[in-house]
Amino acid sequence: MENAKIDSKELELFEEKTKPFSKLMMYYRCAMLEIRTKLDVFNTELSLESEHNPLENVICRLKSPASIIEKMNRKGIPVSVDNIERNLNDVAGVRVICSFIDDIYTLSDKLCSQDDIRLIERKDYIKNPKPNGYRSLHLILEIPIFLTEEKKYVRVEVQFRTIAMDFWASLEHKLKYKKEIGKNAEKIAAELQECAAEINRLDVKMQKIHEEIESPQE
Ligand code: GTP
Ligand code: MG
Repeated sequence: MENAKIDSKELELFEEKTKPFSKLMMYYRCAMLEIRTKLDVFNTELSLESEHNPLENVICRLKSPASIIEKMNRKGIPVSVDNIERNLNDVAGVRVICSFIDDIYTLSDKLCSQDDIRLIERKDYIKNPKPNGYRSLHLILEIPIFLTEEKKYVRVEVQFRTIAMDFWASLEHKLKYKKEIGKNAEKIAAELQECAAEINRLDVKMQKIHEEIESPQE
């Protein structure tokens, strides 16, 4: 295939046109960094108290331009920088993986009680799992980022899960995007539901064992 030729003037025009979008993405990237830093600070502080690191892993992801456009189209909203900011809560996504269920509530409560954080929405799919068995704690937060000339509140979706919940969600996610499963889909969904229940039993049991190890009863 012949390479498309773009002259420098065209490139300049394209960069000028996409600048507001690039700037918006930079805001989201900064907001994810702020959340990650806050979580790292808690983890460092808490691990000194009990020799236990509540944080197993933190994964930050920025929604791709294609996914942003697809979601805006699906919602029937014209794509503009203002509309993206106003209507999408999950352009910046932070996934927090913990070992134990209690760690999820400790970390999320600490995050929400910080005085610069605004809690926009809280969905507890651990206490109220989805019918398919999905468990996680979802927060929509607004966090200020301090730029050279302004302070700006930016939205971030934060998902808290245990290692086991994450293992389950990763496999279940594949089911959603595999189109050629056909008649097996119902059987797989039922099996995943069973796995979700077993995983929950395991999470609760591991939590209890951990408590016994941390503060043994005589
Ligand atoms: P959308 O953001 O438009 O999807 O709607 P919402 O904000 O009401 O959704 P919700 O907060 O329930 O879920 C948002 C995100 O959580 C999704 O993008 C997934 O990453 C994750 N999630 C929610 N439900 C499921 C599920 O059933 N299975 C898996 N694997 N992930 C899920
Ligand atoms: Mg969402």
